[in-house]
Amino acid sequence: MKIGIDKLAFATTPYYLTMEDLAQGRGEDPNKYLIGIGQDRQAVVPPTQDVVTLAAAAGEKLLTNEERDQVSTIIVATESGIDNSKATAIYVKRLLKLNDFTRAVEIKEACYSATAAIQFARGLVALKPQEKVLVIASDVARYGLNTGGEVTQGAGAVAMLITANPRVLAIEETSVAYAKDVMDFWRPLYSEEAMVDGKYSTNVYIDFFKQTWTRYQQLTGQTLADFTALAFHLPFTKMGKKALEAELGERDDTIATRMRANLKAEQAACRQVGNLYTGSLYLGLMSLLVNGDVQPGERIGLFSYGSGSEGEFYAGILQSGYQAGLGDLSEQLAARKRVDLATYEKNFNAQLGLKEEDVTFETPTDGQRFILAGQKNHQRQYVDLNED
Ligand code: HMG
Repeated sequence: MKIGIDKLAFATTPYYLTMEDLAQGRGEDPNKYLIGIGQDRQAVVPPTQDVVTLAAAAGEKLLTNEERDQVSTIIVATESGIDNSKATAIYVKRLLKLNDFTRAVEIKEACYSATAAIQFARGLVALKPQEKVLVIASDVARYGLNTGGEVTQGAGAVAMLITANPRVLAIEETSVAYAKDVMDFWRPLYSEEAMVDGKYSTNVYIDFFKQTWTRYQQLTGQTLADFTALAFHLPFTKMGKKALEAELGERDDTIATRMRANLKAEQAACRQVGNLYTGSLYLGLMSLLVNGDVQPGERIGLFSYGSGSEGEFYAGILQSGYQAGLGDLSEQLAARKRVDLATYEKNFNAQLGLKEEDVTFETPTDGQRFILAGQKNHQRQYVDLNED
């Protein structure tokens, strides 16, 4: 039985900052950000948006009313959780009006956990092939103003339906996971911003790619020639290039040319949004399928990496109906509004974050349906503006 990704949908905030504006504000050469890091824009997060509202927006785009009733389990993968006990998935389940007889859980391992969620979902569907599992990767990547990581911030969510006989990607049996206790990036409970050993983290990423990819080849007997593209977790788009080039080296044949071209296709949407943490690999996959040279029946490799650290290499076969399962990625990115550096900084500082007091945010008129209206009695107030 084929099991895999049946549909994907993406949601981000309605605002972005250009990397030219950020570079100017930070006294950097814009080409460092545009070429050296490989980012054009980054999502700006208003205080009325967070991982719950972004996840709900992506889920709402994904599901038909019929599918809403068929979801047996919702797994929200995030490292920007808003509660140390209660799962983000519970709030999202309510906003999406999923059946009360639904299993709802949140999972975490930095940027890797959406991949774990997909693998767990595969297991559930293998046990009960009629079940549909909703996996949503949702995060706000936040390093802090004037930090080295600032240029790699971003935000958004990717929702995926994992089913039998999927329309987009049938996931293959073999996968290689690799985990080690590494301090390359972490966020202590008392901090709103990630702490990172930036250069070290890029080296650990490449090492984990090499470890998982080498073992995958040993287990399957496959080589690059068996793949039409490799999709990478893209914390910033140059990272994917670094990893791919670590494999290709001086290679310049048709296979290497195809891999490089399809990496550019994967990078296209990620250049516009920044790091989504858990969702980056899957926004990259959507971008690859929309912009790349890929055909049904071809194999796509996926490298997932989460700091701390855990990596996984796995693969899937592209299915014939894949275009129908992708939604309106380009339109959505084009519809966003540009904000200047001062507005970005104001939004950055206005987040609810770790505040303890009651807060009421002004109701936005930016078209977002699900909003964080504030905090009352230590409880976040989530509102569906179509209803309340
Ligand atoms: P930095 O020190 O600001 O930048 O840190 P740099 O000086 O290394 O320059 C970056 C690149 O720009 C270099 O290219 C420069 O040569 C180039 P490279 O040598 O890397 O190929 N450059 C220029 N290019 C063109 N024109 C110019 C110019 N000037 C310089 N004028 C760093 C960069 C990525 C380390 C920093 O932004 C950072 O710490 N980011 C956050 C950490 C991160 O994203 N790590 C990635 C791997 S870990 C991961 O993926 C997990 C993660 O997603 C979290 C999770 O799992 O939850 C992060």
